[in-house]
Amino acid sequence: MIIEVVNVCKRYVGDKLTVDNVSFSVDRGTIYGLLGPNGAGKTTLMQMIATLLKPTSGNIYIDGLQAPRDTLEIHRKIGFLTTEVKLDPISTPNRLYDFFSELYDIPKNEIKERRERDFERFGITPFADKRIVDLSTGMKQKVSIAISLMHEPPVIIFDEPTNGLDILTSKMVTDYLLELKSQGRTIILSTHIFSLAESLCDEIGILVDGRLVTSGSAKKLTEQTGSANFEEAFFKIYSENHKE
Ligand SMILES: Nc1ncnc2c1ncn2[C@@H]1O[C@H](COP(=O)(O)OP(=O)(O)OP(=O)(O)O)[C@@H](O)[C@H]1O
Ligand SMILES: [Mg+2]
Repeated sequence: MIIEVVNVCKRYVGDKLTVDNVSFSVDRGTIYGLLGPNGAGKTTLMQMIATLLKPTSGNIYIDGLQAPRDTLEIHRKIGFLTTEVKLDPISTPNRLYDFFSELYDIPKNEIKERRERDFERFGITPFADKRIVDLSTGMKQKVSIAISLMHEPPVIIFDEPTNGLDILTSKMVTDYLLELKSQGRTIILSTHIFSLAESLCDEIGILVDGRLVTSGSAKKLTEQTGSANFEEAFFKIYSENHKE
């Protein structure tokens, strides 16, 4: 297991646990999906796994490292992505790539080659010297992916990978996720799109009110709940577990 989340809790304010004793593990080279309604705690949980947020209690292990003890080493093993891209608006893809390649200690003689490869793959090359503020949402997302994954991390955490993207850019992103998986990389993603969860994820964890109430493949969850399809399974699981 490359990722192990053990009894993780997060309390922001008061007594309420936003993430309530969550445990799960993810096999190397698989895609794990987090599914749950708005406010269920998906982003909070993913930020803790990416060491951007400290759990109130519990442990997280990434490829033999433990958060928060090994935060620096974990950063090198993880690419964290979200569709709420916050790239410096007056910078350019080229300048951002330079900046982050230094941050990630990419060997100087490899930067040019990696940039060409990454920019070509996402069609960024013609926009490489344009200001971020002038790029479309999809192009910003592609730049964000290229930059967040330039250090070739074995673990990728992606909060709502296709949110706000058109169908072509969405497909490009999901094809890329499958390619990363085929390279043996491990991915945790969250989504509200059932078809995406179903087609992409080896295992899906359902979060309701901060609790991981069940997990399994879409097929398994559908069968287990005697549902006609995965969407129906989700509604059943949600209504059985949500407390007013
Ligand atoms: N920094 C914070 N301080 C206090 N409460 C927070 C903070 N961040 C998130 N919350 C609360 O924690 C709960 C879970 O939020 P989170 O963003 O993790 O949910 P989510 O499952 O990602 O939802 P969505 O599907 O809308 O993205 C929400 O009630 C949210 O208001
Ligand atoms: Mg969220």
